[in-house]
Amino acid sequence: MGSTVATVMTQPVVTAHPDETLRQVADRMQQHGIGSVVVVDDGNRPVGILTERDLLRATAAAADPETTPAAEWMAPEPQCVDPDATIDDAWRQLAEHGYRHIPVVVGEELKGIISMRDLMASARLRPADELAVAAPPGLKGVVVAETALGDVRGNEGFYHYRQYAAPELAEKRSFEDVWHLLIDGELPTPAEHEAFTAEVAPLRRLPAEVLDALPRIAHDVGTPVAGLRTALSLLAGVEGLPPSLDVDRTRLRADALRLSAATPTIVAALHRLRHGAEPVAPRDDLAYAANYLHMLDCSEPDPRKVRAIEQYLILGVDHGFNASTFVARAVTSTGADLGAVVVAALCSLSGPLHGGSPSRALDTLDAIGSPDNAADWVRNAVAHGDRIMGFGHAVYRTADPRSVLLRGVVEEIGGELGRFAIQVEGEVERTLAELKPDRELRTNIEWYAAVVMDRCGLPRDLFTPTFAASRMIGWCAHALEQHADNRIIRPSSRYVGPPPPQPVPTP
Ligand SMILES: CC(C)(COP(=O)(O)OP(=O)(O)OC[C@H]1O[C@@H](n2cnc3c(N)ncnc32)[C@H](O)[C@@H]1OP(=O)(O)O)[C@@H](O)C(=O)NCCC(=O)NCCS
Repeated sequence: MGSTVATVMTQPVVTAHPDETLRQVADRMQQHGIGSVVVVDDGNRPVGILTERDLLRATAAAADPETTPAAEWMAPEPQCVDPDATIDDAWRQLAEHGYRHIPVVVGEELKGIISMRDLMASARLRPADELAVAAPPGLKGVVVAETALGDVRGNEGFYHYRQYAAPELAEKRSFEDVWHLLIDGELPTPAEHEAFTAEVAPLRRLPAEVLDALPRIAHDVGTPVAGLRTALSLLAGVEGLPPSLDVDRTRLRADALRLSAATPTIVAALHRLRHGAEPVAPRDDLAYAANYLHMLDCSEPDPRKVRAIEQYLILGVDHGFNASTFVARAVTSTGADLGAVVVAALCSLSGPLHGGSPSRALDTLDAIGSPDNAADWVRNAVAHGDRIMGFGHAVYRTADPRSVLLRGVVEEIGGELGRFAIQVEGEVERTLAELKPDRELRTNIEWYAAVVMDRCGLPRDLFTPTFAASRMIGWCAHALEQHADNRIIRPSSRYVGPPPPQPVPTP
């Protein structure tokens, strides 16, 4: 087996001229069953690469395929490789720059093309670890995507949505404003706020097919999270959400607003049905948070509680590349419909190590019973290998900024339970510092979120679905971003079983 680019490159190469139209190039790609062409000048020198993705972007931007030249949409000045380069060099170039194809040139003239697929085929013939890059367990610290949506700086205790600190947004803006920021890229002007609010309010209403199915879902499907998952899947099916691969941004944005706006209605309706009450219809005159509380108990919502829950919801919208966000992007990368994306993300969120634990934080408070008991209780739990729910974070190595803000909210509206949670926080942190001196185990969002939600009248089993309603905004924003520049997410694994192929025993 040879190990140079020349041995695995594809020849001849399908090419296009920069002046050819998108239509001509698209027809050629289809004719040859390929996903990209090398654009060459009159001297057969590569001047660009045009891929199916570029064609999709051009279509989404309403470029006329009959008149627009390839030169306008190709990626110019492609990185090229020499036929004598080693396969490992070519692999590194592809991996470093995120390319899928590299033209092979002698001098400046195009001689062939080498693709990720050619290299994978060659890699399969070699010991896996020659080319594989081993990632740490849990992919900790591995950058797997670029995003303009936000980030978490664990050592500083800071996170942001686009260019704004998230807690500052929670202090100064409404949920709708932050929703607009994530989906449309900017904080809205007052007029845009009005327009956006008017756009999303009617999307809260559920179609008859879903409303009719909710009683059965409420009674037959285990938990409220499972009910939400089932109902979201039904809504996406009833409304015929198309694969994201086949739609433009406008349609995907519409699907995103629809699913996000409908989520609180589903959560509230399922909750009421489970308790023998009829669902309360959403009210267009109320903003997102107020309407959610209204749909839960049909009362005129208390403005202090509305603001408390709104701040919590804002803080939960997005938080770096957490497990469910990764899932949302991975599912989007396959071109699946947005219903599939959010249902998969919700399944990931429902685990107790991610979003499924806020109610357990209250259970912990119940079990501790009194502040004097906290240290012993924690020692005993840790001795049994248990984790204290509401403490610790995969990224923060200092106070979780969400917990800091919500602690302030709890100081205002938390009552007796809030005072207790604050006292216990100190005791638990001191004890964990003693037991796990190498770790910085502080409260995460869920410790005070649990108190806020309890004080706003939400029962424990609604904590995770409420968190999910907020995180829907982040998942959808990530889906839109992934869709705008998609590449299927397809990592590798290391096979560690018995060496294959072994003879299959005859029965
Ligand atoms: C969130 C969480 C999964 C992050 O984990 P992580 O930073 O990757 O930490 P690790 O799983 O690597 O654990 C590191 C050490 O800290 C300990 N630890 C982490 N969180 C702990 C907790 N809440 N209580 C007790 N010990 C904890 C682990 O047992 C481990 O100890 P060891 O090194 O002696 O084995 C973890 O802190 C946790 O399980 N918290 C409780 C659940 C929770 O509140 N989830 C909501 C997150 S927003």
